[in-house]
Amino acid sequence: MKKTENQMLVIFGASGDLTARKLVPALFNLFVADQLPENFVVLGASRSDMTDAEFREKVVLESTYLKDKIEDLDENWVSKFANKFFYEDLGGDYDTHYGKLRTRVGDLNDKFNTGGNIMYYLSTPPTLYETIAKNLAEAGLSTQNNGWKRLIVEKPFGYSLETAKALNKGIQNHFTEEQIYRIDHYLGKETVQNLLVTRFANSIFEPLWNRNYIHHIEITNAESVGVEKRGGYYDKSGALRDMFQNHLLQIVSLIVMEPPIGDQPEEIRNEKVKALKSLRIMKDEQTLHDNTIRAQYMASEIDGEKVRGYREEEGVGENSTTETYAAIKFFVDNWRWKDVPFYVRTAKRMPTKVTEVVIHFKTPHHQIFKDSGMQNKDNKLIIRIQPDEGILVKFGVKVPGQGFKVERANLDFYYSSLVENHVMEAYERLLLDAMQGDATLYARADEVEAAWEFVDPILNYWSKGEDVRMYGYPSGVWGPENADNLIDGIGSWRNPGPNLTDDDNFCVIC
Ligand code: BG6
Repeated sequence: MKKTENQMLVIFGASGDLTARKLVPALFNLFVADQLPENFVVLGASRSDMTDAEFREKVVLESTYLKDKIEDLDENWVSKFANKFFYEDLGGDYDTHYGKLRTRVGDLNDKFNTGGNIMYYLSTPPTLYETIAKNLAEAGLSTQNNGWKRLIVEKPFGYSLETAKALNKGIQNHFTEEQIYRIDHYLGKETVQNLLVTRFANSIFEPLWNRNYIHHIEITNAESVGVEKRGGYYDKSGALRDMFQNHLLQIVSLIVMEPPIGDQPEEIRNEKVKALKSLRIMKDEQTLHDNTIRAQYMASEIDGEKVRGYREEEGVGENSTTETYAAIKFFVDNWRWKDVPFYVRTAKRMPTKVTEVVIHFKTPHHQIFKDSGMQNKDNKLIIRIQPDEGILVKFGVKVPGQGFKVERANLDFYYSSLVENHVMEAYERLLLDAMQGDATLYARADEVEAAWEFVDPILNYWSKGEDVRMYGYPSGVWGPENADNLIDGIGSWRNPGPNLTDDDNFCVIC
């Protein structure tokens, strides 16, 4: 186990939902697993007026997100955790002099002996990132002459290539790139990290991982929920910005990348950037028209319950053209992937919540078993990211009896079978990595910009293109009627069920 140095975590936006919903439960898990450093305190900072005690009550003692975890635990144990939390009111504005904050940080550092090491977590709207970085630097809170200083920033990182570049530059004026940790919680998922291990620790897969053996690659990210209470944010974002530019392109980069020379953060990140830069950018309207589909969910009934359409959601414009479904076909311009199509889709209000990668292998070059029903039964490797995490290989077996009839059998592995291992939640893993200074699972500036470079033309086309369509799909189905057009000629999307082994489980719930 790596050693985690003594440190302080300062959370900006500490009164917001993310702190109570994700950060504190992640810290709690680390506390229970004895992974927090010996000397460790959390200082919440935001514009709300709260005392230390009120902050502890809000995010720990009375938090609905911790209730199940703490209800059977010894009170002293819980208090020991809660007592690590402190709060500092920044007044009405984040753009203020941080002198008072500096004094508080200094006092806590002296009292709890946190070694001058500070991790700042920006859980605020992105418009404040640069402001906070600037004010920290001006108050002398970013210098590393007495302990390290790190800055974690949440997504969305930019709204376009231009804004992402400006944001990178703005933050880098005050913190060095080595100090900046851009979080993408998908990289904290064990199964996403396992993509690297599946590829590079198994000689049965890596030799096949190229255009000679792979026919096409399909990635599905489906959510059954709608935009819930985040309509205001989502309507300015949409599926492409919210999920595709970050989480899904991170998954793509892990599938596409070349083997890194080792497992050091920069070695892995260098290969990921190279992978993202090799995605073929769609430039002309015809290509964009033929290779992208966007759609919005409409009102419908799911399990007898009426469900609102996207345009009726709170915070969403009644004529909104923000997509809740995005499907993109693209190619990768390099030696390994020439002519292999990638199909990636993400959407809300689908029949189920699932994220998976399907590697479709080519049909054997010469078919011996002519009337075996082999069509559409090529080998597949399915990597299930969530739920029912695992890996499934589909391969041909002989149907008992006369002749050579071939059927597909499943060879499966489930993460849940590794019972002895505690599988860390995404935020838990990412926080611990940052505390230990390991940036492997954080996005680097050039990585984020390369992803925007690919996404920007699609967004521009969708907002200004001449023949762009916005399709509708009833909530609870697998997207608009023409969703399969993209994948036409080679079949249709695999519409997975909640269980890894569910096959061809297409369902329409309304
Ligand atoms: C977030 C998006 O980044 O990821 C949300 O902003 C989405 O819209 C969420 O619901 C999905 O995360 P997960 O881990 O539940 O797949």
